[in-house]
Amino acid sequence: MTSAAAGRETAFRRCLYLETRDEHEATEATFSPFIDDPHGRLTWFLAAQRSGLAAIFQSRASEACVLSGTVVDDLVRRLDQDLLSAGAVAVEVAPAGPLEPLAIDYLVLGSRLGTQALRLRLFSGDRADEIPAYFRAPALPQLWRAHCLALEAIAPGSARADRILENVKTGFALFAHAAAAQKT
Ligand code: HEM
Repeated sequence: MTSAAAGRETAFRRCLYLETRDEHEATEATFSPFIDDPHGRLTWFLAAQRSGLAAIFQSRASEACVLSGTVVDDLVRRLDQDLLSAGAVAVEVAPAGPLEPLAIDYLVLGSRLGTQALRLRLFSGDRADEIPAYFRAPALPQLWRAHCLALEAIAPGSARADRILENVKTGFALFAHAAAAQKT
C-alpha cells in the first residue's frame, strides 16, 4: 500500500470508528450482563447475536455483493448449533434497510474482533470442546484487512461516507433490538 493510500484508509476508518464509538459503547453496555455472568447469560447472548447478525445481513439490498456473506452463514450455523444444544431458539427481529454493503461488512467483521477478545477474556481456561461453536469461529484477519482496503476508496465527507456512517448506526440499533427481544 502506498503511504497516500494508507492515509486515505486511516481517514475514513478513523471517522467510522470515532463517529460510531458511542453506539459501540452502548452495545458493549447492552451485553455487559453476559460479561458479568457468562454462563448464566450465555444462551441470551448467543440468541441476541443470532438475531442481530441475521437482521443486519437481511438488511442488504437483494443484488448487493457483501464481502462478509460466507462469514455470516458460518456464524449463523454455529449459533443455531449452540442454541439447539441449549434447547433454545432466537427471536428474530425485522431487518432495516437496505443498508450499504460496507456498513454490513464493518459490523459483521468488526463484531468478530470483539468476539475474539471475549473468547480470550471469558473462555481461555476452558477446553476447546467446552467453548460454544460461535466463539470457536476463525478470526479471519485477512478479511478484515480486505474490508479496510475497501473503506480506503470512500472519501470522508462524501454522500456515500455519510450513508455508511448512518447505516452502521442503524445496524447497532438492530443489535439493541435483538438483545431486548430475546426471551432466554
Ligand atoms: C459484548 C460485546 C462486545 C464487546 C466486548 C466488543 C469489544 C470490541 C473490541 C475489544 C474491539 C476492538 C478489537 C481490536 O481492535 O482488536 C471491537 C471492535 C469492533 N466491534 Fe465490538 N464488541 C462487542 C460487540 C460488538 C457488536 C455486537 C458489534 C456489531 C454489531 C461490534 C462491532 C465492532 C466493530 C465494527 C469493531 C471495529 C471498530 C474499528 O476498529 O473501527 N462489536 N469490539
